[in-house]
Formats: sequence, structure tokens, C-alpha cells
Amino acid sequence: MRAIAVSEYGATPSLMDLDRPEPGPGEILVKLVAAGVNPYDWKVAAGAMKDVVQARFPLILGQDGAGVVEEVGEGVDRYRTGDQVYGSFGAVPRGLGSYAEYAVVAADGPVATMPQKMVYSQAAAVPTASMTAYNLVERTGVEEGRTVLVCGATGGVGQAVVQLAALKGARVIATAGPDMTDRMLRLGADETVDHRAGDLFESVTEAHPDGLDIVIDMVDDERRLDELAGAVRKGGIVASTIGQANTAGLKKRGIRAVNFVNKASRELLETLAELIDRGKLTVHIDREVDLADAPAALAEIKRGGARGKLVIRL
Ligand SMILES: NC(=O)c1ccc[n+]([C@@H]2O[C@H](COP(=O)([O-])OP(=O)(O)OC[C@H]3O[C@@H](n4cnc5c(N)ncnc54)[C@H](OP(=O)(O)O)[C@@H]3O)[C@@H](O)[C@H]2O)c1
Repeated sequence: MRAIAVSEYGATPSLMDLDRPEPGPGEILVKLVAAGVNPYDWKVAAGAMKDVVQARFPLILGQDGAGVVEEVGEGVDRYRTGDQVYGSFGAVPRGLGSYAEYAVVAADGPVATMPQKMVYSQAAAVPTASMTAYNLVERTGVEEGRTVLVCGATGGVGQAVVQLAALKGARVIATAGPDMTDRMLRLGADETVDHRAGDLFESVTEAHPDGLDIVIDMVDDERRLDELAGAVRKGGIVASTIGQANTAGLKKRGIRAVNFVNKASRELLETLAELIDRGKLTVHIDREVDLADAPAALAEIKRGGARGKLVIRL
């Protein structure tokens, strides 16, 4: 099967012809139609999991995907051949991922029936970003009456956080330049702040002198996040998706801090599918590329500037 993989950590991802995986007991084999791209994918290729698990090479990249169940392993009764599913297919120790024509996943793992209202390319763009957003909103206690600043709101995770926080009834402030202001407001943000037009901390404290309740941050380093935390009232919470929250330091300042790590699950994908089918959550596909063009597209998203999700057609 055709797949985008790396021969070792740090190698340039390339198109390879690799063996189709076999579903073991309790697993399903999925013929993928589309794969969703996340920053995590290039981080894995660069070696982010090096000290965590032993990888198998060539290592196929990608977590997110959507497709059709091709084969079910022994003991699987949740799915049948032909079912349309979406989920998280990355398995570094087995060298498997979603940038491939086929992937395997445990039937009770992070895979679920696709949202009925989505086509494969849309469903493939949902799992990592929207599961992360959902868990972040829950973890930080977003609710009606709270004011939430979303930093990195224009990206995959951010656009879902904005929608889910607005759905909870919170007041949502989204970072966005002029090109993304309208979309952020349509997604449910109450206001936007241009992080490139001036000092973000100053803009936010000026507009919210009583302080913010929550900062959900996908982009800032520890120094910037420490500064932004000055805009949060005592007892408030700051969450970083990139491990940049200085938990001990912020605790001393009366602010709870979380270095958030996402947990994927079937149940969560089912919840998201329901929200999507009820019209409460959308995903914006910025661009679709063919498998052979995926390495170049991956290199581009590494440079930043995401305005939605990148999807690979398989
Ligand atoms: N911890 C976890 O479990 C977990 C889960 C999912 C994702 N993540 C991580 O979270 C990060 C975001 O993921 P993603 O999928 O949303 O990425 P993405 O789609 O690439 O989006 C990032 C967005 O942030 C914007 N941005 C960059 N610098 C900014 C700044 N200083 N202020 C405000 N906005 C800024 C970017 O636009 P511009 O470049 O044009 O500003 C882009 O729109 C990634 O590093 C990812 O690996 C972690």
C-alpha cells in the first residue's frame, strides 16, 4: 500500500510502498479515504516520541483518518465490513499511522462511526483537534459567566475551542488577525484580539480590567504565558497544550496551571459526532492534497499560519 513514512527520526517524510497491516484479534482494518494533518505528526517524525516508546521504522505518519471498515479481526462485534468510521490511527510502536491507504485500530480504541453529516475529508479533520478542544474546555471548567481567552484560536484546536466554549455560554476572546476576525465571530467568539497588532497582554488587560477567568493557550512559550497569566484573576486557570505552563510559579501567584495532554477515546468521538450532526460543531478544511504532495504540505504547516485543517486524500 502507498503511505507517507520516515525511515528514521529526523528523516524527510516520503511516499513509500509498504505492507498492508493485518487486523489482529479485537482490531479492525480500515481502508482510509482521507487523513487529517496535525502539528503532532511532524513532531513525531522529528522524534518527539523517541524517549517514550520504541518506534518501528519505516514509521507511517499521521493520527487522524476516516474510511471504510475493510476487515474485522477475531472477536469484533462492534463493527462490520462497510461501516464508515473515523478516529485516531497512530501506532508508533508498530510503525503505523493514518497517512496510508490502510490502517488498523482496536475496535474499542479511539474510533467511532463517522458523523452522518460529514464526508470523509471533513471527518478525518476532526479527531485530534476537536477531542483536544473538548477535553480542554472540560478540564478548565469553561461555563456560562466565565471569560476565556483562546490563544492560537485560528488553528485546528483553537477553532474547535472557540465553538465549544461559546456553546457552554462563556464569553470568548479569540486571537485573530483581520483575515480571520469574521470567521472567529461566526464560530461564536464575542470578541477578537489581534496578537500581531500590538501587545496581547496590554490589549487584553485594557479590555478586561477585572481579569480573565481562563486562558487556553496553544502557542505561547513559558515567558509569554507567564506574562499573559497576569491578565487572569486569582483562582483562575491557565492551560497550555505545548507544555509551557509554569505550574509551580503560577500556583504561587494564585493561578491554577495545567500542561494539558489529550486523551483520545471512542466515547469522545461519539460525543463529537453527535455535536457535529446537531450542527453545534464544524471543522474548516483549509486545503486538501493528494498523498504524494503530503510531505510538502507537512513542511508548510510546520512553518505556521494554519487557518483550518489540512487533509490528505488517499
Ligand atoms: N497537548 C496535547 O495533547 C495537544 C493536542 C493537540 C495539539 N497540541 C499542540 O497544540 C498546538 C496547536 O495545535 P493546532 O492543531 O491547533 O495547530 P495549528 O492548526 O497549526 O494552529 C496554530 C494556530 O496558532 C496561530 N498562532 C501562532 N502563533 C500565535 C500567537 N503567538 N498568538 C496567537 N496565535 C498564534 C497560527 O496562526 P499564525 O501562525 O498565522 O499566527 C495558527 O492559526 C500544536 O503545537 C500542537 O502540537 C497539543
